[in-house]
Amino acid sequence: TTMTQDEMKQAVAQAAVDHIKGRLESDSIIGVGTGSTANCFIDALAAIKNSFAGAVASSEATAERLRGHGIEVFDLNSVSEMEFYIDGADEFDPHLNLIKGGGGALTREKIVAAVAKEFVCIVDQSKQVDLLGAFPLPVEVIPMARSHVGRQLAALGGQPVYREGFVTDNGNVILDLQDLEILDPKALEAQLNNIVGVVTNGLFARRGADIILMGTPDGVQTLRH
Ligand code: A5P
Repeated sequence: TTMTQDEMKQAVAQAAVDHIKGRLESDSIIGVGTGSTANCFIDALAAIKNSFAGAVASSEATAERLRGHGIEVFDLNSVSEMEFYIDGADEFDPHLNLIKGGGGALTREKIVAAVAKEFVCIVDQSKQVDLLGAFPLPVEVIPMARSHVGRQLAALGGQPVYREGFVTDNGNVILDLQDLEILDPKALEAQLNNIVGVVTNGLFARRGADIILMGTPDGVQTLRH
């Protein structure tokens, strides 16, 4: 039998629920990402909503979906401990470095991931690459710095493309950096963050995934360091 991409997303979403459910306490808060795979996770999580306290959302869209299932959404500032962050990715490499932000939620995703002890990344196998960078790297930018940051990004050898008509949940804009071969994800992540006007970038390398659950037509594979 062949599985559609959608069925693979549902399978990894259920695998993520199975991965965390034995380790949840009644006061646990779960960090939840953004995107179509994260949406599948939210839907699967709803089935066990009585076994934890609630969630922190990485976007307005995710918060709305969580509330729609009757899952309480907490402000991150009121949460001191978070065991799990569950989210998708746009690309991942063999070292579990990620590119995220295709949906534009990268900054809040990175913040919530930073608080969590374990980042469980859920993907289908189409996201797997040897070298990051075929997917345009999203960079969130303060609007008045857009041209300045664009010139700095071009100087790095990539081609920044303004995501027109898109504003992030934080009121900022996105430049998608194309044509980059990312040989050193950690170094590039830090270098981009050093440009004045950059809020954050979609490389999750300094803090990559701790575990990746990858959907394939033959089932879910678990990748760890
Ligand atoms: C959202 O900003 C992204 O980081 C998502 O995690 C990423 O785009 C994955 O989305 P899909 O699960 O829809 O592919």
